[in-house]
Amino acid sequence: MTDTNPGMQITGKVMQRVRERFAADGSGHGIDHVMRVYRMAVRIAEEESCDTFIVALAALLHDVGDHKLTASGNENHREEIAALLDGTGLSNVQTNQIIDIVEKVSFKGNGVEDAPMPVEGRCVRDADRLDAMGSIGIARAFAYGALKGRPMFDADKKPGSHDNFGDYKKSNSHTINHFYEKLLLLKDRMETAAGKRLAEGRHAMLEAFVSEFLLEWDAEK
Ligand code: ADP
Ligand code: NI
Repeated sequence: MTDTNPGMQITGKVMQRVRERFAADGSGHGIDHVMRVYRMAVRIAEEESCDTFIVALAALLHDVGDHKLTASGNENHREEIAALLDGTGLSNVQTNQIIDIVEKVSFKGNGVEDAPMPVEGRCVRDADRLDAMGSIGIARAFAYGALKGRPMFDADKKPGSHDNFGDYKKSNSHTINHFYEKLLLLKDRMETAAGKRLAEGRHAMLEAFVSEFLLEWDAEK
């Protein structure tokens, strides 16, 4: 059966293009991450009064042009998203709404406040952050760390503080530090009702993991 709802048709088209662009990958930023963020963002949006169509598209596009994925290492959301949406029938206003959200989704350092977002953006940002927490978050952190050739842990290297995005991007510490520098801070940055609720269990999982890891590291357990 073909879908006659224009919004659903556009979402389907964008999903197809995103699937072509994001292969299955080992860095935790592949199509599986994108699809989890999409499903979670839409789920969070059901409890908010907002434009679910914009939430769905911004979630599907949230990693397009991310510095972790571009060849140059620079952010390039605007051009890459505009190119991906070309010919889908989305208005300029909607395209700009989505780009504005995606530019503000990323965590930019533990000393950098999150930029204020429209409610649609808050749903996407919380969904992206939930995927950095819990058991999936732990798996993604070590997958990313391994891809970058970083040690799992080094007791002599303490967590750093980053008060600008440039310093945060340059940080190349071991993966346990990433828990202190970002992952364990996410619970208190949640902004939606569902995000706050779901973050509780995922945060507890991160805490339990780090304390077990440190005990086992020292062969104390
Ligand atoms: P954001 O845009 O907020 O960075 P993403 O979903 O694009 O969110 O990717 C963040 C994920 O990438 C982290 O949650 C983690 O799994 C991985 N990651 C990023 N930087 C590091 C790092 N320095 N060490 C380990 N994992 C990292
Ligand atoms: Ni993401």
